[in-house]
Amino acid sequence: MNSRPIAVFDSGLGGLTVVRALRQHLPHESIVYFGDTARVPYGTKSSPTILQFAEQDCRFLMRFGPKMVIVACNTASALALDELTQKFDLPLLGVVKPGASEAVRQAHGQSIAILATEATVASQAYPRAIHELAPRTPVTQQRCPSLVPLIEEGRSSDDPIMLMLLNEYLDGIRQLDPAVVLLGCTHYPLVAEAIARLMPQANVVDSADATARWAKQMLAQMEILSLSTDPGRLRCYVSDNPQRFREIGGRFLGQAIRDVTWITPEQFFTDDSSPPANPSPASFAPAARVA
Ligand code: DGL
Repeated sequence: MNSRPIAVFDSGLGGLTVVRALRQHLPHESIVYFGDTARVPYGTKSSPTILQFAEQDCRFLMRFGPKMVIVACNTASALALDELTQKFDLPLLGVVKPGASEAVRQAHGQSIAILATEATVASQAYPRAIHELAPRTPVTQQRCPSLVPLIEEGRSSDDPIMLMLLNEYLDGIRQLDPAVVLLGCTHYPLVAEAIARLMPQANVVDSADATARWAKQMLAQMEILSLSTDPGRLRCYVSDNPQRFREIGGRFLGQAIRDVTWITPEQFFTDDSSPPANPSPASFAPAARVA
């Protein structure tokens, strides 16, 4: 059991920020990552669609016999974690509860602002999780639909368009004068620096780091931490465009990504429950452009 991998899934490459934190806190664990790059973004989709996608992603990862599944996508955690927990018989961890509890810890009873995708904001999952821990904490939310594509485009904390956009989004939460700004989306840690500069009085809290610490604690409590002293292996599977995942994902992971396999729809939706075979290098060719 101890040597089994931790499975992680996300709507695309953003979940690599969670993998990055996992590798810092749990360097000897092997990780199997699935990024649903064919169907990203989840943050603009309806609840039934997100539920269906999350279940399919989780089912795919079951083929690797994981000891735990981490739902790295905030949107999927917010909307699907409860259903997944009922359907799959293994420990599942999302990013909402760890993020909310870290925000509450750092807010010391003061107000908390959450930045997230449209679907995460609409689900009210973060305010609910915060109020379960601290019922009187004032909470506000701001949806930031344009941040994900701009961050993937490579616009960072110093980019003028990014700063202009962040300023506008942060205007929505400034009147609450939050003690904590909670980054409720996998992509936002990449512009945490700009958010901290624009909201100097607030602590910027990242769900990814809190989730990795929770994962470590859960594995230790269940006595299924890896016993290996070697660095854990990271294998990535994506439902489209491994080339792009490799190129852009490095910024999210904080290091180059080597092991990426493209899963075709036939491989993804098959009834076969064995792990997919590694394809030939030819499968990594970029998708042909349709004129
Ligand atoms: N991974 C998603 C999240 O954390 C952001 C990208 C998307 O909308 O799918 O909510």
